[in-house]
Amino acid sequence: MRTAGLDYESQALVERELPEPRPVSGEEVLLRVREVGVCGTDRELASFRLGFPPAGESFLVLGHEALARVVEAGPGVKALKPGDWVVPIVRRACRPACPSCARGRRDLCLTGKALERGIFGLHGYFAEYAVDAETDLVRVPEALLKSAVLIEPLSVVEKVVERALRIHEPGASTALVFGAGPIGLLAAMVFQLRGLRTAIFSLEPPDHPRARLAAAAGVEYLTALGSRKADIVIEATGAAEAALTGLRSLATLGVLGVLGSPDAQGEIPFRDMLVKNQAMFGSVNASPVAFTRALEDLPRMNAKVLDGMIRRVRFGDFAATIPAVAGETAKVVHVIE
Ligand code: BGC
Ligand code: ZN
Repeated sequence: MRTAGLDYESQALVERELPEPRPVSGEEVLLRVREVGVCGTDRELASFRLGFPPAGESFLVLGHEALARVVEAGPGVKALKPGDWVVPIVRRACRPACPSCARGRRDLCLTGKALERGIFGLHGYFAEYAVDAETDLVRVPEALLKSAVLIEPLSVVEKVVERALRIHEPGASTALVFGAGPIGLLAAMVFQLRGLRTAIFSLEPPDHPRARLAAAAGVEYLTALGSRKADIVIEATGAAEAALTGLRSLATLGVLGVLGSPDAQGEIPFRDMLVKNQAMFGSVNASPVAFTRALEDLPRMNAKVLDGMIRRVRFGDFAATIPAVAGETAKVVHVIE
């Protein structure tokens, strides 16, 4: 079958023919992958700054944001049947399972040895077929198919939003999201659904397609912060300084969730943080509850905006799309014909 991934010997992003993953046993299902979304993580992977191939191999199939259809179910599979649509969960528990992984919260893995499909040590879904355990798949209703490829990134957003809201005392009423990429747009829409007054702060001019999507979603769009403060700030830019700017944009009691600034460096205003009872946290991956919320929230979001967020391209376009993920449209999705 056709796959797209990384060759760690030649340090190149390439297409490669691999054997189809069969047969399926026990609680496994065979999937025909239909769509794969790409994100900043794939770009990082393709520049060999992140990730690694499966043990003993020098090739990693990319793709962690997928929509697939069940074509065959093993004898032990309970809830899925051929024809069902699914979105895979990205992370797999560490072994032996740490307390977090053991209680089903592999997103909170304590050892750092959890693997991730298409990222850390496991092949991803940029392929015609894949096999997964039933428990690693989330079933998607037909009505959500058009934007279902957004469920995985949305689950990452749901986790950070839920935690920020939980930490804020006595309850947040304003949110500021840094970044108008897919994560930023989805985060803003989730805050709106939770009833918060929400704005996006990003550098693209107001007539940029992504800024227009924010406006179409009814989210205030700012290209300058001024003295703006919010109860919750979510940093979703990938820019190093944004997390620190986020801290300075917190209201008293404010909570900052950091998603995208791994290399942020600078002075943290601890005095301000303590006298204003502020909090800051990082977040990665998603919990099972976050996936449930994603399934609930997706149909409540503006369908036109979700549509407008996606640009579908062909399988073979990956060499152009992955190194240049931040383009005009929010989310590039490869259709695996
Ligand atoms: C994925 C997450 C993953 C993270 C770190 C993101 O792009 O959506 O599921 O945990 O990258 O590898
Ligand atoms: Zn991603």
